[in-house]
Amino acid sequence: MPTYKERGVMFPSDVVPRSNLELLKTFDIRDDDIMLITYPKTGSWWLHQVVKQIMAQQGVQDEKYLGDFPNFIEMTLRDKGPVAEMIKTAPSPRVLATHLPVEFLPPGLLGSKAKIVVLMRNPKDTAVSTFHFWQKIPDVKTPESWESFAEQFLAGDCLWGPFYDHALGYWKLKDKHNILFLKYEDMKKDLPAEVKKLCSFLEKPLSDEKVQTVVGATQFDSMKKTVGEKRQMFTRKGVIGDWKNNFSDDQSRAYDEQYRERLSNTGLEFQFE
Ligand code: A3P
Repeated sequence: MPTYKERGVMFPSDVVPRSNLELLKTFDIRDDDIMLITYPKTGSWWLHQVVKQIMAQQGVQDEKYLGDFPNFIEMTLRDKGPVAEMIKTAPSPRVLATHLPVEFLPPGLLGSKAKIVVLMRNPKDTAVSTFHFWQKIPDVKTPESWESFAEQFLAGDCLWGPFYDHALGYWKLKDKHNILFLKYEDMKKDLPAEVKKLCSFLEKPLSDEKVQTVVGATQFDSMKKTVGEKRQMFTRKGVIGDWKNNFSDDQSRAYDEQYRERLSNTGLEFQFE
């Protein structure tokens, strides 16, 4: 799979052509946009489904636009094609998504009133999920082994950039912007509580009954059942702690050391089980 680097960040050329990064510099943000931000393999599609279900409970059901899958702005602006047009003409509130590191966001976003939701996941499970995903994508250069991939991820040699640069880039915005941070592990442990948090942040209050409907539709088993063949690879195991089935003691120690180095005194933490 061809890749290129822009400002030190690696992108897949066919999925995120360099011209898209250019187009994003003039991408118009609306004050009522909702932007869902995730590092790859941290639950992007799950978050999209939860937000979509919340909107559905509020009577917003533009299937054509909200669609089955997140509208990743860096992927869909290609050649100013039909999806880009759809995003431009979509009714408000638009639900947009991106994996981009903070420095690549459309310049208007952080100064707007758009609501930004950042979902994060612990780096060990993210690495394992990425490894399995890459093995299933025919176009991606399949990692030779878990061992080589674990090192690659630790070295930050990843699509959309190094894990910690991505996470900390957004974490720095926490006190300044209209931004909600969610964690994959919290969603797994208490989805109703996280759905309520989202509803309140998005100013879309729902009754307890409707929250339960959202939860019912977005639990792993429900999503796995309703997902089509094409999206099976986005619902693999859906658990916290699968890293334990993959990491050696040495790998685990190396990841723990990097975790301490990068996150100590930042206030950002992850749960690993
Ligand atoms: P695993 O590979 O660990 O199973 P993304 O959408 O960003 O590509 O993230 C994919 C990861 O989210 C996969 O992790 C997938 O199983 C998990 N996932 C998807 N839907 C989920 C759900 N409803 N509950 C928990 N995890 C989910």
